Amino acid sequence: MFCGLPGPARLTMVEIRYVVHRPQVWLSIAAESPYGSDMEKRTGIFAGDDPFVIARSWLQAADVEANDPNAVALATVDGEGLPNVRMVLLKEIEEDAFVFYTNYQSKKAQELDASGKAAFVMHWKSLRRQIRVRGEIIREDGPLADAYFLSRSLKSRLGAWASKQSTPLSSRAHLMAKVAKITAQKGLNPARPPFWGGYRLVPTEIEFWSDGANRLHDRFLWQRNSSESAWCIQRLNP
Ligand SMILES: Cc1cc2nc3c(=O)[nH]c(=O)nc-3n(C[C@H](O)[C@H](O)[C@H](O)COP(=O)(O)O)c2cc1C
Repeated sequence: MFCGLPGPARLTMVEIRYVVHRPQVWLSIAAESPYGSDMEKRTGIFAGDDPFVIARSWLQAADVEANDPNAVALATVDGEGLPNVRMVLLKEIEEDAFVFYTNYQSKKAQELDASGKAAFVMHWKSLRRQIRVRGEIIREDGPLADAYFLSRSLKSRLGAWASKQSTPLSSRAHLMAKVAKITAQKGLNPARPPFWGGYRLVPTEIEFWSDGANRLHDRFLWQRNSSESAWCIQRLNP
């Protein structure tokens, strides 16, 4: 993966001499060159060597949003490669992944399970910032999903049992009747339905974007080949 400074195949003989014998001179040339990296300028809101820490701090700053600062537009593709996008709430930024919850029989879940991949974007109007994420998808249907389900309000838990998400519904009255029936059946402490749980998006790409004057925005793309690999960071043109 090409990252920041050019690889040896792109260097001229003169440049190779500098890289080998006078690395300091090479670094200053590289900083001026079109390939050059100005990572020293990755300061302020972009600073740090862990993109999950940066994402957490941006999300925290987004608390100023009136509603749902943790809302993300989640993109999937269907079997024909036709994209699909909808909002979900990001519930956790872990050490190495982003977690959200949904119905496992929903359209999105079918597409997530089939492709094993997803992307999302979060945008905060007040902060004028966005984060884009792409990567692999893994189900989270263990104790963490149980604990998150239990943390939801009783009505939300019963609603999750009652809704056959993404399938046709004859009327709202039908849904409410189903909620009443489930309430009678499950009582006051319904366990997590087997058809409902989490997904963990383990990214191979995370891009941090912040609005700049005259549309000269700042963008930093973090990429890695797999969750085992080191991150490579590049500044991108706006
Ligand atoms: C702000 C917002 C947050 C939402 N959060 C979730 C969520 O966390 N999980 C979920 O399944 N649906 C959530 N939804 C509903 C989804 O956008 C979508 O309508 C639903 O999941 C069905 O999508 P699908 O048919 O593509 O599976 C949310 C909608 C909005 C507007």
